[in-house]
This record gives sequence, C-alpha cells and structure tokens, in this order.
Amino acid sequence: MTEPTQAAMQPFTVDIDTATGAMPGARNRLVRRASDLKGYYADGAALERLITEGDDPLHYEVFEVPVPEEAGQLMYCISKLQAGRVGDECFMTKGHYHTVESTAEIYICLQGEGYMLMKTRDGQSSCERMAKGRMVYVPPFWAHRSANTSATEPLVSFCVYPGDAGHNYGDIQTQGFPVRVFDRDGRISVEEC
Ligand SMILES: [Fe+2]
Repeated sequence: MTEPTQAAMQPFTVDIDTATGAMPGARNRLVRRASDLKGYYADGAALERLITEGDDPLHYEVFEVPVPEEAGQLMYCISKLQAGRVGDECFMTKGHYHTVESTAEIYICLQGEGYMLMKTRDGQSSCERMAKGRMVYVPPFWAHRSANTSATEPLVSFCVYPGDAGHNYGDIQTQGFPVRVFDRDGRISVEEC
C-alpha cells in the first residue's frame, strides 16, 4: 500500500456552490455521453436511437480537484447526472465497486432527486432515495450507481472516498444491479430485473 508522502502537501480550500454543485477550481472533468453507456440499459435500441437521432446527449460529468490517489488522502468530487430517459429508464451512472473493496464512500446530494442503487457480491441489494440535503453512506464492499428520477433537473452530489479506493467496473456492465429505475408515464418505478 502506498503511504502518503510526508509534508508534500499544503492545506487548501475549494469553493463549491452548494445550490448548483459548481466547483470552479476543478481541474479534472470526466464526461460520459449516451454512447459510453452501451450495454447498461434495458432497452438497447432506445439507447441507439438516442445516440444516432438524439445527438448522443451528455449523461454525466464528474469534476475533481485531484489529490494523490494514496492511502490517507481523501478523494472528492462533484457528480452531475443529467435528467433523461432511455426508453422508460431513468438516466444513470455506470456504477462501480471500489478496487480496494474495503473502502466506503459518502454522497451528499446538493441538487435534484434520484436513487442510489447498491449491491454486494454475496447477493445483498439496497436502494436509497437521494434528495437535496440527504447523505447516502455507501459501506465498504457495496457497488454503487445513481439514477436521476427528475424529469428536468440534474442530480448533483458531492462525493468523498479514500484516496486509494480506485474504481472497478467489474461485472456491472454485464450483470447490472438487481433493480432498475423507470419512469412509467410520469410515475417513478423501481423494478426488479
Ligand atoms: Fe465510488
């Protein structure tokens, strides 16, 4: 395990607009468009139409002010998931386990509404509501994915997790999560799959 470099860093501050999630000092911006989510949605044909006829819309962005990815540090970011539907399914993130699976994560919802879907390798699953001002604690060993249930507003969260956690997309693309989140004619429905 990599240990923090002694006295290599100085304290610092970052401004975050808690109403919008804007973090002007962010230096890294991860962008996922619809075409990056192939294989993740129940209705693959609807996703293809969105890519080819819908101009491959922005799905989500992650803004970071990076710190060293090592034990002892705390990584943090703003996650901004757009509102949208693929067929009837709400826009969602890819989801991941942490590479170091014994690491937890905190999400504080700053804007919007949705769900955090979580699962473990031994078959447990959980689905927690996300809303402005609510924190979701993702324990160690739980894969996690968020879904935006708003029709119009982005789902914006501040996230913090151990610096050495890493990301492992593992079996998520092929096996997904035990539930999916749909918008059935304006009614949000969390359905087993
Ligand atoms: Fe994570």
